[in-house]
Amino acid sequence: MSGSNLPTGLSAFPLLGKVGIGAGLVEAGAAGPHPSPPPAEEGGMQSQPLVRAEALAKTFDVSPPLLNRVLEGKPRQMLHAVDDATFTIAKGETLALVGESGCGKSTAARLLVGLYEPTRGSFYFDGQDAHAAFKAGGAGARKLRERIQMIFQDPYASLNPRWKVGDIIAEPMREHGTVQGKAAQEQRVGELLQSVGLSPADMVKYPHQFSGGQRQRISIARALATQPEFLVCDEPTSALDVSVQAQVLNIMKNLQRERGLTYLFISHNLAVVRHVSDQVGVMYLGRIVELAPKHMLFSAPRHPYTRMLLDAIPKMHDTGHARTPVQGEVPNPLNPPPGCTFHPRCPHANERCKTERPAMLGIQGIQVACHAVEEGRI
Ligand SMILES: Nc1ncnc2c1ncn2[C@@H]1O[C@H](COP(=O)(O)OP(=O)(O)OP(=O)(O)O)[C@@H](O)[C@H]1O
Ligand code: SF4
Ligand SMILES: [Mg+2]
Repeated sequence: MSGSNLPTGLSAFPLLGKVGIGAGLVEAGAAGPHPSPPPAEEGGMQSQPLVRAEALAKTFDVSPPLLNRVLEGKPRQMLHAVDDATFTIAKGETLALVGESGCGKSTAARLLVGLYEPTRGSFYFDGQDAHAAFKAGGAGARKLRERIQMIFQDPYASLNPRWKVGDIIAEPMREHGTVQGKAAQEQRVGELLQSVGLSPADMVKYPHQFSGGQRQRISIARALATQPEFLVCDEPTSALDVSVQAQVLNIMKNLQRERGLTYLFISHNLAVVRHVSDQVGVMYLGRIVELAPKHMLFSAPRHPYTRMLLDAIPKMHDTGHARTPVQGEVPNPLNPPPGCTFHPRCPHANERCKTERPAMLGIQGIQVACHAVEEGRI
């Protein structure tokens, strides 16, 4: 499947940003003891997860054309954008995926909304094999698309500039037939605009008449039009000013509380992630290398890459305390290092790390893929 499946109210895939880790919003409590309550699973009350990804993988064939390969003797080239991603999200909770540019966050997002078919692995939504349903098409796929919606990064690129806001928001209702009749649709568009802090009168305006933050609110209202249960949010605030980011994040959190929404929230910015998530998955070159409840990840990060990202976050109460910028470069994903792909940047790498890929291990309520953690070296 491809981006061409997008409805016409969305103009195209927006350009995806390349911003440094840790830039932007700083949460007030970032340097103090962790204030957030433990997530639901720690109380032993966790219900069946709404979202379950099992060893999900997406490989792109980026080989040169056949003729070039034959003439120049070049091999096929496969790029493992997402490899072996396993996670669950309980209903009403937020899993954040973080990592540097190119680590596979958007590819993971597109797998979950059915824009990409996985190369391997499965994704179950509410107990149903979602990709089997997407592939089968028909009413099953339509229903699933109603229940799973996506919010993109760039509110300037993601709304069709030639459509009025009312039409942009009503389009999914028309497509899915969830609200019948023009009057009922207008009524519902007005309610959705109000739910994101805009006015029903805004439905007759065009996207260019709004600020970036307001446009992202329109994108959220549009995503809510089919009354979805699961929202996949790909860097929804990264293109916005820091002050506006906080407003949009708060709206998203309120909507989640009111409607019991479940979020996959993608960000390169750990300070934003700290604000919104229950669980955090840290991705590096296509793999999740640490998956932990938020408070554990921030108070006791285990993977050296997670530690590197956290050291780079500006902390509000840390004046005078130099933060350490993220060290080194992400290797070429077409030619990843052997063993642990993080080893060229890792201060704890040993010989084993250079040859043996670390498996994901469950340790004290978190999952981490690191030999040094397994060996008790860190
Ligand atoms: N359609 C595609 N065809 C080939 N390669 C792709 C495709 N989409 C993504 N990739 C590659 O897969 C890898 C992961 O890309 P992805 O867009 O998922 O990363 P990301 O973590 O979202 O990055 P960013 O933070 O820059 O948005 C990158 O190396 C990218 O070049
Ligand atoms: S496996 Fe080795 S190289 Fe990889 S993160 Fe752990 S210590 Fe570093
Ligand atoms: Mg991306």
